[in-house]
Amino acid sequence: MAASFNRYTLSLPEVEKCEGVKTECHSDHATANLSSSRNIHSSPVTSVTPVTVPLCILGEVQLRFLCPEDLEEVRALCQDWFPIDYPYSWYEDITSSSRFYALAAVYGGVIIGLIVAEIKPYAKLNKEDRGILCSSLGKDSLVGYILSLGVRRAYRRNGIASLLLEQLLAHVTAPERSSVKAVFLHVLSSNAPAILFYQRCHFRLHSFLPYYYSIRGKCKDGFTYVLYVNGGHAPWGLWDWMRHLAGAMASLGPCRVPRWIWQRLLWAATLLSYHR
Ligand SMILES: CC(C)(COP(=O)(O)OP(=O)(O)OC[C@H]1O[C@@H](n2cnc3c(N)ncnc32)[C@H](O)[C@@H]1OP(=O)(O)O)[C@@H](O)C(=O)NCCC(=O)NCCS
Repeated sequence: MAASFNRYTLSLPEVEKCEGVKTECHSDHATANLSSSRNIHSSPVTSVTPVTVPLCILGEVQLRFLCPEDLEEVRALCQDWFPIDYPYSWYEDITSSSRFYALAAVYGGVIIGLIVAEIKPYAKLNKEDRGILCSSLGKDSLVGYILSLGVRRAYRRNGIASLLLEQLLAHVTAPERSSVKAVFLHVLSSNAPAILFYQRCHFRLHSFLPYYYSIRGKCKDGFTYVLYVNGGHAPWGLWDWMRHLAGAMASLGPCRVPRWIWQRLLWAATLLSYHR
């Protein structure tokens, strides 16, 4: 099953819809519906030395989807943020294909942050990612994968990444996407700011990926971080089973507990006899 979602049907009123395959974006920018005590000032496009610009009016940051005209700007930002060289076709894809949820935070006509994610069938994930969901959810579930999230150096620690992530989470938790059970990402194990950011946003470490990245000829370790949504959860361990049994028994009432236990014992005995 191909996972696709239409960037133009996003129902968030604050997100400007950009006609990705056409040549121009809407000019009626909507503003992010946030109030904040942080101040925003215009800033140069990319500063190599991090100079923090405090945002007082986060509400003036506009959100819109990426469109083909953003390609060079997005490419310059990603080259500044990430030690990985993405092929040109990747930038073409994220700025034009409706397969991606590619949202930009814009201030003063300049992109100051962006998030790129994709919804995929869980069954089609790579081997190293397939342990994210409990097996009972696995088959038909979808998962959101964050390919990229970054904020211009000068605008960091102003809640821009949080704002972008919030929009993605609102998208995947909309009623029509209830089969999306988790949002996950890979991050360099040395990328402390990103790890702290995701932990702050309730993502949990799922796995350690030794030598996952090849960066300028050197192997680097990575982590997988996961946030469960729409009732999704990790594979069950002993603790989950105990909690499940306790919860199930509590919901039965005292009279039916012995019968319930007896039934389970019979099932277990039947299963054991089959396996002999
Ligand atoms: C990670 C990144 C996207 C965070 O963007 P941001 O807009 O600064 O994040 P926010 O302002 O929304 O941060 C929210 C919280 O995350 C945590 N956090 C974010 N950056 C942090 C840092 N450098 N150090 C410690 N905690 C940090 C803080 O708890 C912060 O809340 P606070 O500012 O009230 O303390 C940004 O640092 C970045 O663009 N890094 C380079 C690209 C990158 O590595 N992306 C991640 C790839 S997986």
